Amino acid sequence: MTNKMKLIWLTLITLSLPLLFTAANSTAQESLATDELIQEENWQLVRDNCTECHSSLIIVQNSGNRAVWKSRIEWMQSSHGLGELGPELEGSILDYLTSNYGQKTASRRQALPIHLMPTTPNS
Ligand code: HEC
Repeated sequence: MTNKMKLIWLTLITLSLPLLFTAANSTAQESLATDELIQEENWQLVRDNCTECHSSLIIVQNSGNRAVWKSRIEWMQSSHGLGELGPELEGSILDYLTSNYGQKTASRRQALPIHLMPTTPNS
């Protein structure tokens, strides 16, 4: 390759670097959209009643069975100023939360079996 060719290649590569960063950046922005509520039945009720004080992120990061969600709503009412929802609205919100953000079987990975653990100075 001649020196002139090398220079042209180098220029092209340098000029295309910002493009690479733009592409990486757009994926990062897409992942921000994960705080959006799953758009299943009744999701609008949660958007309208539950995202006034905090983002939906605090909801989508949580999970639990119906009793857990009910206790969270009660806690929100007793200490954070959430008003009475009424039995019908509360029921629909609980249906939505329980079926879309229900109890997880496990939220952490299993511990490594002992024979796969690295040795430590004490073992
Ligand atoms: C009047 C304001 C308000 C409304 C309306 C509200 N919340 Fe909250 N919520 C709060 C505050 C304040 C916190 C505590 C935030 C913190 O710890 O940073 C909170 C925390 C939470 C948490 C986190 C609980 C935890 O264990 O950390 C969940 C889940 C939640 N809210 C769900 C809901 C749901 C579901 C609704 C709708 C039924 C709702 N919130 C409506 C004020 C509100």
